[in-house]
Amino acid sequence: MTSIRDGKAATDNAFLRNCWQVAAFANELDVAFLARRILNEPLILFRAGNGDVAALEDRCPHRLVPLSSGHRVGDALQCAYHGTVVAADGSCTKIPGQSSIPRNSATRAYPALDRYGLIWVWMGAPDLADANLVPDLRWLSHPEWVSSTFYMHFEADYRLVTDNLLDLSHETYIHQSTIGNREEESIADFRVTLAHEADRRIFCRREMSNIEPPPMWSATCPMADRIDRLQIASYVAPGINMTEAGYRIAGETTEYNVFLRVMHLLTPETEHSTHYFSASSRNYALRDAALTSAITDGTIRTFKEDKYILELQQRALFECPDQHVPKMSIVLDAGPIQGRRLLTAAIAREQADPTYVAPPLSLVRELDHLGSERAQVQA
Ligand code: FES
Ligand SMILES: [Fe+2]
Repeated sequence: MTSIRDGKAATDNAFLRNCWQVAAFANELDVAFLARRILNEPLILFRAGNGDVAALEDRCPHRLVPLSSGHRVGDALQCAYHGTVVAADGSCTKIPGQSSIPRNSATRAYPALDRYGLIWVWMGAPDLADANLVPDLRWLSHPEWVSSTFYMHFEADYRLVTDNLLDLSHETYIHQSTIGNREEESIADFRVTLAHEADRRIFCRREMSNIEPPPMWSATCPMADRIDRLQIASYVAPGINMTEAGYRIAGETTEYNVFLRVMHLLTPETEHSTHYFSASSRNYALRDAALTSAITDGTIRTFKEDKYILELQQRALFECPDQHVPKMSIVLDAGPIQGRRLLTAAIAREQADPTYVAPPLSLVRELDHLGSERAQVQA
């Protein structure tokens, strides 16, 4: 298992590069530019006049001053220090006081594109970037779905966040006032079924019969006092996590209603901090803006509870650089351990063969049964 605190070695082994990662929500580029560190590299992102997205190394080719300390000039960036201008493709187009442009003047440009309301960036070998490899999250921009979205920053390793998302038993303890439950019987008492696919994806499925609805669910969506609750946590390396939440009246044998399909798109900022892009999607009550806001607010509250614990855990790991987690492995760690194995194997494979690109994996097939249904709560 990859240690999260091995200095340089940890940095080298921490990231998968030949894949698309979420750099921003598309509407974050409704400004001149956005500076964001991704996989430990400083980037500056902006949208050109023709709608294309540019992602450049946020360093001036002259003296490395961040381009983000300068300003936008048309579809280019002008450095704050001596006024050098860098175009959207990274080429240097103007140097004050001279007409010639040195040959080594280009700034690194990263492949980037806009899809599903998200800005995706390819941090690996540029020649390998293929738009067909963007993970299929089509419901995020589908007219029969609506999403509650927000960005959050965690001062914690993205792998700790994935560990958290692959073991949702913590809801009983961390999330009592949001998506947990207060009953004596805890979520951990309901068994998880674990499935693997293509060595790159896992599913952790848990059905909880005759349980009280979580407070956040009851507050946002009318449902019975006792429900059978379905929870599926899926993971595709390196940072695509999804939680499907469903319910039906306790004891019924009907299909589960979809309450929410929650995407947790994790992009490492550094090996110890994470950009967390959240999208909770539903296919009912599409025009209920108040419900969309209530879900956003409830999910933010919920994720702040995770953030608190995970940042505490990260700080504890800083104090114990020789420790690995889990230090003591328990039954609940099955999903997180499998997730780490998938990720570690993918990174090792890429490092052995820098031209390796994992084939695309879709989450949609497993969701077809959800997409064709309507939850009972209609607009
Ligand atoms: S550092 Fe940017 S122009 Fe000199
Ligand atoms: Fe949580």
